[in-house]
Amino acid sequence: MCGIVGYVGQQQALEIVVAGLRRLEYRGYDSAGVAVISDGELSVRKKAGKLANLETLLGSDPMPQSTTGIGHTRWATHGGPTDSNAHPHVSEDSTVAVIHNGIIENFAELRSELAAAGVHLASETDTEVVAHLLAHELPNADDDLPEAMRRVCRRLEGAFTLVAIDRSQPDVVVGARRNSPLVVGVGDGENFLASDVAAFVAHTKQALELGQDQVVVLTADSVTVTDFAGEPVEAKPYLVDWDASAAEKGGYDLFMLKEIAEQPRAVADSLRGRITKDGRIQLDETNLEEATLRSINKVVVIACGTAAHAGMVAKYAIEHWTRLPVEVELASEFRYRDPIVGPDSLVIAISQSGETMDTLMALRYAKTQGARTLAICNTVGSTIPRESDAVLYTYAGPEIAVASTKAFLTQIIAAYLVGMYLAQVRGTMFEDEIRRVLLQLEDMPSKVDLVLDTTEGVRELARDLANSTSVLFLGRHVGYPVALEGALKLKELAYMHAEGFPAGELKHGPIALIEDGVPVIVVVPSATGRADLHDKVISNIQEVRARGARVIAIAEEGDEGITPFADHVIRIPVVPTLMQPLVATVPLQVFACELATAKGHDVDQPRNLAKSVTVE
Ligand code: G6P
Repeated sequence: MCGIVGYVGQQQALEIVVAGLRRLEYRGYDSAGVAVISDGELSVRKKAGKLANLETLLGSDPMPQSTTGIGHTRWATHGGPTDSNAHPHVSEDSTVAVIHNGIIENFAELRSELAAAGVHLASETDTEVVAHLLAHELPNADDDLPEAMRRVCRRLEGAFTLVAIDRSQPDVVVGARRNSPLVVGVGDGENFLASDVAAFVAHTKQALELGQDQVVVLTADSVTVTDFAGEPVEAKPYLVDWDASAAEKGGYDLFMLKEIAEQPRAVADSLRGRITKDGRIQLDETNLEEATLRSINKVVVIACGTAAHAGMVAKYAIEHWTRLPVEVELASEFRYRDPIVGPDSLVIAISQSGETMDTLMALRYAKTQGARTLAICNTVGSTIPRESDAVLYTYAGPEIAVASTKAFLTQIIAAYLVGMYLAQVRGTMFEDEIRRVLLQLEDMPSKVDLVLDTTEGVRELARDLANSTSVLFLGRHVGYPVALEGALKLKELAYMHAEGFPAGELKHGPIALIEDGVPVIVVVPSATGRADLHDKVISNIQEVRARGARVIAIAEEGDEGITPFADHVIRIPVVPTLMQPLVATVPLQVFACELATAKGHDVDQPRNLAKSVTVE
């Protein structure tokens, strides 16, 4: 949600900032803008639409050379995606330029105050007030931008990352952070600020985590961090453990295609080092104390979007293995309904980005209630793992396409490992049972590979269904969250009406949606593993077929029982029931990606969405 880049050093800032924005565009692409300082003047260019529009503008209206610059790619909250609402925003006297990620909740009050003081506001954004406030504070702060920033931040409410430059301090970039992400890249004679390390990993792998309510001041040779009161604080250094090439398309047309293809590797990496040779789980890295795990009486998963679907899958497994109740809560609803959570609860926050504001706020609430918290996260050093008692990282590698794919599979793997660990510590499974499940998990990379080898049929079907107005997805047991995920992918990418239902629930209402030719994609339970569920789903298929639905079954190899009841069968390898989501989801990802491509959509950057949603 909004990408931010700042640079100060020896190189041309504009090139570095625009290249950084390209890597952050997944965070929002409603508009983009840059500002540099040259010869004591601020120069700003901004444009509605994708970064490419800004690049065209920069071609026709070049900027002066400069070694200090900031840039922004926007996901609109306050004010539509127009040129004038695009960041950077500049003070009336053109002294200060500022970019922002988040929402300033008391902006209305601040706007009125500025308007009463005769300031003309040129945009509808909450951000613009900061530019004017900074300009007003500079004289009170001895014209020192960092001090002015601290003074302004003390007045702001809400979530914000701010980065500002001042034409009279051309070698300084100032950043501030409350809730929204901001990391420092420490270079040699140059320094960077960004919402995500992806923006600077091509230049340096040395990063610094900024904490809550901190202001950072960059020059080419120094990085200084204070709190909002001006007291020095130490930022935690870390090394980015992936390469710039990991965030590139690597020969694929789309990031999403690359990320789908990476899933066997991602699953294998997320298992690596966590299973001992003698078939036990070891999660020492998490700092989860065994005594705590023995004392809890329930598990609560908090997450949003795809991550919530991973949590729903994990519920089936964790309850089965541990006999602990598992509640899966949409993070945006959690803290508003007085949830029953306390010292006996293990709260698991699942988040690819580690920055989703709804999940972060739910996590903080759980902590206030005394719960033990564990993050399952893909982004090292992000806020959610930092604020959790324990963390289990997924090793999916950077996920750039907005629609989540490899993160989903690895979130299931990580949550399963936690479930198995709980079972091991609490003694709810025999050792040989644990060994058996671990072998099944270790077998999954090759099974996912098999699915990827046979996607031609799915792609053909997707092209064939590109003009459908609605697609329904049905599943039972773990197939139900898979159905939800299949529908979410289609909504996100193809902008089509798509809904996932528990197959048995359809007859209680949604079956009214079925009319002649409506495609219904059914995740069919294993005929060998869960014959009871399999047969029930066949009955549900007959119910929709009788009403004219076109049935597409996702069924395991060798399940001939399904053939007479489906118009198309997409085959997946035979795996145990709890492992099925890891193979059954993949064709649905491919389906949505291909269908959206057939419709001519921008698959990696679908309309209205952002990958990392850092507002509530
Ligand atoms: C956004 C993305 C979704 C993602 C959700 C949760 O809405 O568009 O793809 O599933 O956020 O993101 P997280 O980073 O917390 O997993």
